[in-house]
Amino acid sequence: MSVASTVAGLRPQEFRAIRDRLYGISGIDLQPGKEGLVQTRLAKRLRELGVPTFAGYLEYVEQDASGHELSHMVDLLTTNKTSFFRESHHFDLLRERVLPPLFTGADPIRIWSAGCSSGEEPYTISAIIDDVEQAAGKRDVKILATDLSSRVLTRARDAVYDEAMLEGLDRPTRQRMFEPFDGGPGRWRVRASLRARVSFARLNLMKEWPMKGRFQVIFCRNVMIYFDRPTQERLIQRFHGMLCDGGHLFIGHSESLTGMCHGFSYVAPAAYVK
Ligand SMILES: C[S@@+](CC[C@H](N)C(=O)[O-])C[C@H]1O[C@@H](n2cnc3c(N)ncnc32)[C@H](O)[C@@H]1O
Repeated sequence: MSVASTVAGLRPQEFRAIRDRLYGISGIDLQPGKEGLVQTRLAKRLRELGVPTFAGYLEYVEQDASGHELSHMVDLLTTNKTSFFRESHHFDLLRERVLPPLFTGADPIRIWSAGCSSGEEPYTISAIIDDVEQAAGKRDVKILATDLSSRVLTRARDAVYDEAMLEGLDRPTRQRMFEPFDGGPGRWRVRASLRARVSFARLNLMKEWPMKGRFQVIFCRNVMIYFDRPTQERLIQRFHGMLCDGGHLFIGHSESLTGMCHGFSYVAPAAYVK
């Protein structure tokens, strides 16, 4: 294959083909208007491969029987924006209302961060567990953190973040959560005690879920926003099935269950109980 230094523009039929492929595998529904995003995110990959057109790239994706290139394409097209203590009122609710009754019970506590991106959400949950443990004592708490993208999961497992990712965190929180990382200046690693209760796994929310037990809390925030309404509704119903009675579901603030058929009661903005 010859190495292409330039890549032809994305044609409408190529955009539709990429959109259909992405929707089929991930549920992500790229709306018209996202052509620029597709062009920008995939063009570098086409150049790396020496493929001059998007049609050629799609052929390459389909011919790769390992599925590796398809995963790579999906990785490039997912939006992974996240931050520590994002939508922080959820973490106040977790600390003050959701976890204390669970800490008085005998059951192990299981929390799922579905669509965890590069780890900021599950590590924030882990820091909240630490807070509650200080008052209530140690408990068996595990956080499962899953995402479709292998690229973000590698970063999540490394748990190393640039100084810029810690912006907005007060000094005590920084000290509690992070230690300096050897790899370079301005790099911080989540403390081992916080990492220990989080396990990461690749999981496509559109496929079978292998987990056997139920969860007391599920976070699935800023993930459904990329799905169409029927896909969102199916997902919410599946989360309902994965929660214990009285379990809590947190969704993103720009997401909503309005108009859906579900068994949840409203608790607070973007927070629901089974
Ligand atoms: C914008 S991030 C949200 C991260 C975090 N939950 C937050 O609110 O900060 C959305 C994540 O959902 C993941 N995602 C998208 N479609 C998915 C799917 N079908 N299965 C699993 N994860 C998916 C993406 O890879 C991305 O990391």
